[in-house]
Amino acid sequence: MKNIIVFSGSNSSNSINKQLLLSASKKLELDSVQYVDLSEYDAPVFGEDLEKEAGIPTQIRDLKIMFSNADGFMISIPEHNGLLPAFFKNILDWLSRIDQNIFYQKPVFLLSTSPGQYGGQSNLKILESLFPRWGAEVISVFSLGNFYDNFDLELGVIKNDELQLKLEAAVKDFRNAINLAVEEFI
Ligand SMILES: Cc1cc2nc3c(=O)[nH]c(=O)nc-3n(C[C@H](O)[C@H](O)[C@H](O)COP(=O)(O)O)c2cc1C
Repeated sequence: MKNIIVFSGSNSSNSINKQLLLSASKKLELDSVQYVDLSEYDAPVFGEDLEKEAGIPTQIRDLKIMFSNADGFMISIPEHNGLLPAFFKNILDWLSRIDQNIFYQKPVFLLSTSPGQYGGQSNLKILESLFPRWGAEVISVFSLGNFYDNFDLELGVIKNDELQLKLEAAVKDFRNAINLAVEEFI
């Protein structure tokens, strides 16, 4: 059974990235899709002094174990001032102190959305080049601009047909990569 972990890099209770993520993850049609609320794994701001005094927080260790059992990751990340949110970067920093190989060379699908026209594309470009450093095999990238115009909040789907097709194609590539990776492992 394939175990896909899906999460948003936002700690907002009304996260639009979470809404996009849940909509995209429904298209996966894989055996096991596990939504993880990353805010439950929040940790104090990383500092080397704190690390020496208190060690790696338990919730970060728990997250690491969960990630080690995944066959792939779908992650929707907001853009804050052109970059990833401090909340998410902090979790990545802590995880990297256990092991730089955060994503275990598994397929990763990166998404982003924003209320503005660019849909977090600046951040996605940077993340696409950074994620391999953390052991991710980035398969698909998808950005949704103008979230409130392009997303049906009641139905939880993208309204714009062209963008919907683009998302479906990206999901298909990701699903194929997961199936291939699992076959290779067997
Ligand atoms: C501190 C801050 C900085 C932001 N910077 C950007 C930005 O650089 N580009 C952008 O498209 N949206 C930016 N936004 C708007 C976010 O895209 C918007 O808040 C979005 O809802 C965040 O995603 P979330 O709801 O999943 O947390 C910023 C928002 C905040 C709070």
